[in-house]
Amino acid sequence: MKWLMIIMAVLWTSTVFADGKKLHDSSCMQCHSSLMAPNKANEIYTRTNRKITNLAGLTKRVRSCSLAADADWTSEQRQQVVRYLTDTYYGL
Ligand code: HEC
Repeated sequence: MKWLMIIMAVLWTSTVFADGKKLHDSSCMQCHSSLMAPNKANEIYTRTNRKITNLAGLTKRVRSCSLAADADWTSEQRQQVVRYLTDTYYGL
């Protein structure tokens, strides 16, 4: 029973992660690569002078950038992208 719960938790976490990455990659990379360089869109999150320093800032930024991207996301979808970005780049 305990194992089943652990397996389900891992599956749930990886599904949320995969959804966040999918949402992010389809709506956010084009504009960021025009700001950075072709194929280097995600370096906007790792550059030395990056702007985001806390979770509240990241949440706010994802919301405003998702409007710029014209992505009609629910708050849950935005949350999935926040989780993907913090797990992958920010570690907040
Ligand atoms: C129309 C252009 C555009 C789109 C589309 C866009 N962004 Fe951005 N994004 C920007 C700009 C401009 C900045 C700020 C760059 C700066 O301050 O130097 C930025 C910065 C960010 C940052 C902060 C990076 C840092 O410095 O730490 C995050 C996080 C971010 N965007 C998330 C997203 C997400 C998530 C999406 C997809 C929903 C997205 N962006 C789509 C233009 C865009």
